[in-house]
Amino acid sequence: MRKIQLLLTLSLVCITTHLFSQSNIIPAPVSYAASSEAFLLNNQVVVDLRTKDADAIKQTLQLILSLQDKGLIVKQSAVAKPTKINRAIILELNEKANTSLGDEGYTLVVTDASIQLNANKSAGLFYGIQTLLQLLPPKFTSTPSALIKGCSITDYPRFQWRGLMLDVSRHFFTKEEVKKYIDVMAQYKFNTFHWHLTDDNGWRIEIKSLPKLTEVGAWRVERFGRFGSREAPKPGEPTPYGGFYTQDDIKEIIQYATDRHITIVPEIDVPGHSMAALAAYPELSCKKEPKMVNPGTSFSEWYGNGKFKMLIENTLNPSDEKVYTFLDKVFTEVAALFPSTYIHVGGDEAYHGYWEEDPNCKAFMKKNNLKDGHELQSYFMKRVEKIITKNGKKMIGWDEILEGGLAPGAAVMSWRGMKGGIEAAKMGHNVVMSPTTFAYLDYTQGDPSIENPIYSSLSLRKAYEFEPVPEGADPKYILGGQANLWTEQVPTLRYAFYMTYPRALATAESVWSGKDKKDYDNFLTRLENHFNRFDVLEVNISKAVYDPIVSVKMENEKLMCNLSCDIKDVEIYYTLDNTFPDAYTTKFTKDFEIPNGDVTLKVISYRNGEPLGRMLSIKRVELVKRVGK
Ligand code: ACM
Repeated sequence: MRKIQLLLTLSLVCITTHLFSQSNIIPAPVSYAASSEAFLLNNQVVVDLRTKDADAIKQTLQLILSLQDKGLIVKQSAVAKPTKINRAIILELNEKANTSLGDEGYTLVVTDASIQLNANKSAGLFYGIQTLLQLLPPKFTSTPSALIKGCSITDYPRFQWRGLMLDVSRHFFTKEEVKKYIDVMAQYKFNTFHWHLTDDNGWRIEIKSLPKLTEVGAWRVERFGRFGSREAPKPGEPTPYGGFYTQDDIKEIIQYATDRHITIVPEIDVPGHSMAALAAYPELSCKKEPKMVNPGTSFSEWYGNGKFKMLIENTLNPSDEKVYTFLDKVFTEVAALFPSTYIHVGGDEAYHGYWEEDPNCKAFMKKNNLKDGHELQSYFMKRVEKIITKNGKKMIGWDEILEGGLAPGAAVMSWRGMKGGIEAAKMGHNVVMSPTTFAYLDYTQGDPSIENPIYSSLSLRKAYEFEPVPEGADPKYILGGQANLWTEQVPTLRYAFYMTYPRALATAESVWSGKDKKDYDNFLTRLENHFNRFDVLEVNISKAVYDPIVSVKMENEKLMCNLSCDIKDVEIYYTLDNTFPDAYTTKFTKDFEIPNGDVTLKVISYRNGEPLGRMLSIKRVELVKRVGK
């Protein structure tokens, strides 16, 4: 019995050690085993590429450049047998495929003599290099030398679609900015960049056969202040704000992404979200009245429960054959540009009110036996799918495309929770899970008192809970998962990074790592190492996870407050007297009362005597509003 107990304890220790021995790698690899060896990396090390594969050659050069960026110069040279003295980083494609690795997996073994990276395909080498770079210090100091802990890693992704979406319509990001966004994605093994290229606020892709789309649709009046409450354009006012990507720009960005094993899925959002296209071609709407490229003016009313009304028409007219001629031109050029299998056609939040009032739409619905706006939209989406498939592509759209009947070969991107995705999978359609609940990066991530206010919030902890295969869905239809950055309130790339990371690292782990590898506390430990890496890159990412979490409840008519922090090893200090908290004010140890009166809670976390998070300052009246939430 004793022996069995001992064995059980030992195996438990092994399982735990296995789970937690994953170094600082994000996303966590399938397996990581530490060894007692160590590889001395300095400028005597050489890189030995043992394949003539063109992509592997590019990647080796990129690895050498990345090491140079870190302050280490290494040369490329062949080494027959590396030793502790003649150390080498070896990159090799497997002669006989290791089937468990698939196309994107790799093995990485660090010993005294070598760092040996193997993969079946160059994509695997690419991901192995990303892991290797994470095993190194973010930057070498003046003596470029580091001891890399010995280990053996086997790694491959859980899902084939590991995506991030960037909205470049609400805010225009330049070509260089888009590349920078793609660069960081690649470091965390994302492989799909969903590019939201069109919306009410700007049409961003050159369509040569429809020049007005960018001559008119890419530009809007200059406005400042909060998006959504900006003054409407005045008649004849100049439209200097905006921009677009020429087809040459797009080809350059596609090549840049391809070099990083990222597929770009372009989105042309129709039939709704089309105000910029209608500013260029108002005849494609029902009312055919002139339209603006919206600079962030309020134009809709939202009643909750998915009900809304557009006060300005932003929808294409599905009863007009000219609309399909227009879409044929757009999607034919888009399909020719992008090598991706899928083209995203939007389909979300299309307002049917103008259709339902329009005599032509009404006659069209009667003639085609379509009973409501949903069926009319379904008719429209099916026509769009025909255009997409005719161009050799597959269609994907937001989950509204299910309503009124899904087009036969369409894939669904489930954003209003997972329901639409489950339904589509049950019907045998491919699905990408991208639910607001876990994957909306425009939502605030820290305490509402300190963040730029948005209508909803998504903490890092919640983002980490993302599980792309919900109960009731056949995993075979779930291509993967994606997080989305809408940019109404994101005016700069620096802020786009702040909103994207670290939550996208949680997404990366949800779509790359096995379910058994997910452990939030362990993720946070690794994340702290990555904070340093982002600091070195001068990329601003949110450290909201260091801020205190303030929870309140009413108890015997007293407003009671609890303070906590996701990150361990912190002390939390607070004041209730309008003075600034520091390590000499009250330390939180147990729930306390927020007394009546014009009282403000000020609170901050510390570690080892140094401030860690941001100071939160919340008035009692605001805390009262949070009770029960
Ligand atoms: C969406 O968030 N409207 C897809």
